[in-house]
Amino acid sequence: ISLLPTDYTIRPMRRSDYNRGYLDVLRVLTTVGDITEEAWNQRYDWITSRNDEYYMLVVCDGADRVVGTGSLIVERKFIHSLGMVGHIEDIAVEKNQQGKKLGLRIIQALDYVAAQVGCYKSILDCSEVNEGFYVKCGFKRAGLEMAHYY
Ligand code: ACO
Repeated sequence: ISLLPTDYTIRPMRRSDYNRGYLDVLRVLTTVGDITEEAWNQRYDWITSRNDEYYMLVVCDGADRVVGTGSLIVERKFIHSLGMVGHIEDIAVEKNQQGKKLGLRIIQALDYVAAQVGCYKSILDCSEVNEGFYVKCGFKRAGLEMAHYY
């Protein structure tokens, strides 16, 4: 298990992370849009009401600012004897905090949760530039992503 730098913590997302820079961290990943605190609260309540399905983690620095995020969504299937699959989504580390093994630590934590809740595998989609990162996290290339945008 990779250790966090001194004073850094990893924990579940909190409602108050809106004011700790959560959405700014996600902006290193893609467009986030203007999300009001009210809209954040609504989505936060929806997600946390599904607390055996959505596992959202953050890494905070010594000043309690969010510097990294990652999510695990647990899908319940009929196949593989009611098997469960973990979907790893929206991994992001603030630009000036990259390269400190924070991303690795987030993946290890999400992997641990997935295994503990009984998933038989975890999967994710990423671009070619991130393949090396996920290989270092223990993933291997499998299949091909298809998308249909609406
Ligand atoms: N290619 C190859 N190796 C890499 C890459 C890369 N793009 N990024 C990191 N690594 C290596 C590191 O060198 C390190 O190797 P080492 O153990 O030999 O030293 C190892 O992977 C772990 O790296 P971390 O320091 O944990 O990586 P970091 O904290 O910088 O996080 C991340 C990596 C999440 C990809 C970060 O760069 C980031 O936020 N990028 C922008 C957003 C993004 O693309 N997120 C992933 C989208 S895919 C998804 O969400 C499912």
